[in-house]
Amino acid sequence: MNVHDRPNTPLLDSYWMPFTANRQFKAAPRMLAAADGMYYTSDDGRQVLDGTAGLWCVNAGHGRRGIAAAVERQLSTLDFAPSFQMGHPIAFEFAERLAAIAPGPEGNRLDRVFFTGSGSESVDTALKIAIAYQRAIGQGTRTRVIGRERGYHGVGFGGISVGGLVNNRRVFPLLPGADHLRHTHDLARNAFVKGQPQHGAELADDLERLVALHGAETIAACIVEPVAGSTGVLVPPQGYLQRLRDICTKHGILLIFDEVITGFGRLGAPFATDWFGVVPDIVTTAKGLTNGTIPMGAVFSSRTVHDALMHGPEAQIELFHGYTYSGHPVACAAGIATLDIYADEGLLTRASELSDHFANAMHALKGTENVVDIRTIGLVAGIELASLDGAPGKRAYDVFVDCFEKGLLIRVTGDIIALSPPLIVSEEEISTMADMVGDAIRRVG
Ligand SMILES: Cc1ncc(COP(=O)(O)O)c(C=O)c1O
Repeated sequence: MNVHDRPNTPLLDSYWMPFTANRQFKAAPRMLAAADGMYYTSDDGRQVLDGTAGLWCVNAGHGRRGIAAAVERQLSTLDFAPSFQMGHPIAFEFAERLAAIAPGPEGNRLDRVFFTGSGSESVDTALKIAIAYQRAIGQGTRTRVIGRERGYHGVGFGGISVGGLVNNRRVFPLLPGADHLRHTHDLARNAFVKGQPQHGAELADDLERLVALHGAETIAACIVEPVAGSTGVLVPPQGYLQRLRDICTKHGILLIFDEVITGFGRLGAPFATDWFGVVPDIVTTAKGLTNGTIPMGAVFSSRTVHDALMHGPEAQIELFHGYTYSGHPVACAAGIATLDIYADEGLLTRASELSDHFANAMHALKGTENVVDIRTIGLVAGIELASLDGAPGKRAYDVFVDCFEKGLLIRVTGDIIALSPPLIVSEEEISTMADMVGDAIRRVG
């Protein structure tokens, strides 16, 4: 059924949709009208299994009553309060709750929390904190920020400058001085690996190359996604992240992990920082922070970074940065209720229990025609397809549409399918997802 034939369908003209082929979409819309647990309901009443936790964010599944109740209570208690030179208790409470599970080892957690409104804002905040930190410790020449090819760090000017996806960059001016490590994708050596690939730790030495090129004294920070998600699920080679950590430490460069996707249980530990046992100086988060319900991000900093900025006259604002919605009380209420669910249901580590089944189910698609690689870690999978000649992205897009029509939501980037279901997913649902993706790939051909 076309959306135009459906009763109560809104007009589609006014909404300029993000990261969407607007004209193509509006000619044949795909509408999600409701959601509960593992399922969306489309506007024509079909059940659609959520293979992507919405957009990597609904980690506790949909329609959680505890979050709805907390939001409702907060809205009728304190709907908004300014956070500049004013405070409200729930923001402090949420920060304390986050500090208790913050990335990093017990006793050395990154437990200083700056609130933002999204992942993009978290990234720009982290980059600014890093530059401000360097200046505060007398390293004011360090203003350069290093990202990585194929990285995705949101859509702010900072984020696209360190990001490495060409379509997000080519039209816009970028931060001067940003540079990039090479990406770690290596189909020739690492195809069809479960977990971390064996080859490629030496790619971290690219940071030494950039130090030799620019001078360490010009570099404030290096930012990477511990597992690159939006570029199509690139799992870091064994030893790579530790090597990056060591090079950063050697040269006084802050290491930032962008955990907007990996934060809050995606890999099987609360944060990728914990899963890999490599501790950066700053961690960015969003998405799973509030189970996707109310927009919010949080940046976790080490005490070293935070405390370096807590100097000078007490009446002086230490960091000239913040958002109207930093620490929004309703988002904090959603976040606290989300943390309660994660704790009650053991969701921050549940992916570790499911990851073997998940990996086996996904890797069973090896041998399917046009599948050139499968990568898995925790509850994330990337299934890479051979591109059609002259039409990169078309094959995966057709699989995406086919899956949606058959009742499964997947995500595609280029010709890579990404799966990242809510952490409440059952083994049976995982198997269903793999079967449905396989069937769609075969149908599309
Ligand atoms: C690693 C990473 N950083 C930043 C972002 C941007 O987050 P947002 O879309 O909330 O601005 C994303 C979004 O997918 C992401 O995956």
